[in-house]
Amino acid sequence: MTLPNTPMKIIAGNSNRPLAEAISSYLGLPLAQAAIKRFSDMEVFVEIQENVRGQDVFVIQSTSYPANDNMLELLIIIDALRRGSARRITAVIPYFGYARQDRKTGGRTPISAKLVANLITTAGVDRVLTMELHAGQIQGFFDIPVDNLNISPVFVPDIQKKFAGQELVMISPDVGGVLRARALAKHLNADLAIIDKRREKAGVSEVMNVIGEVDGKVCIMVDDIVDSGGTLCNAAIALKEQGARAVHAYVVHGVLSGGAVARIAASQMESMVITDSIAATETVRMSPNITQLSIAPLMGEAMLRISEERSISELF
Ligand code: R5P
Repeated sequence: MTLPNTPMKIIAGNSNRPLAEAISSYLGLPLAQAAIKRFSDMEVFVEIQENVRGQDVFVIQSTSYPANDNMLELLIIIDALRRGSARRITAVIPYFGYARQDRKTGGRTPISAKLVANLITTAGVDRVLTMELHAGQIQGFFDIPVDNLNISPVFVPDIQKKFAGQELVMISPDVGGVLRARALAKHLNADLAIIDKRREKAGVSEVMNVIGEVDGKVCIMVDDIVDSGGTLCNAAIALKEQGARAVHAYVVHGVLSGGAVARIAASQMESMVITDSIAATETVRMSPNITQLSIAPLMGEAMLRISEERSISELF
């Protein structure tokens, strides 16, 4: 791999240092020196401690828990870079928080994903690089280029290795995830089934019907986010009731809030694979049935291609 002639810089926010370091090591490019701290009243202070004038700068920050702090930190880093005359600023947001609030869910409710897109754009970024947005349409909330990476190059080889020779069905745990599950099913030459999920109130999920044939098969559920774990735990029960031989899950963003890890450990799922788009807590690392795959090579490669003005779609 050759680095571009134009100066490229990577700055890491505090939300996911392990991923930023893994990307830095993939690119063979050290993270730029920056102080990103809190004043005693918890206001964010940023000082970029290297010259960025005229440079192609990538800011790596997932807007995961604590979402609001990490979001503001991202905005303030971008402001510091813009005022430091960076030539181009790319916000690398492996996990884009607030994405689930992408439409009005009732009267007098916000579309927070759009507001967040406005904030990031107004702060001064030139483009955004992210992964498996909750809904692809969120790209249109920005009037700047957005590259929304697909997880297939990370998940497909792992599934092929672990489940070689088994009769697989890829499962979308809700109607919104069908495109993602279908894309993986195509790569793996597997069948597809869909869970018709109804959610009575926010944060509580209820499985209704399994659409498709799962009897005697190994089911692999695919989702963008696992948060409370309710969706996937309930889906696993429904799949077992329909005769599934085994149930596993591949999820891009492990939000895993509240008692999710314990809920998953006690569930009908034999295993769950997540990525490092969100830094794993100690509880997640110690979990008996959750493992992590790294998106660092894919993210790093996409960053390199952006810097060299090369195609990203060739990666898929
Ligand atoms: C919802 O549409 C998403 O794709 C996920 O299925 C959902 O966010 C998972 O949430 P939880 O784990 O709390 O059920």
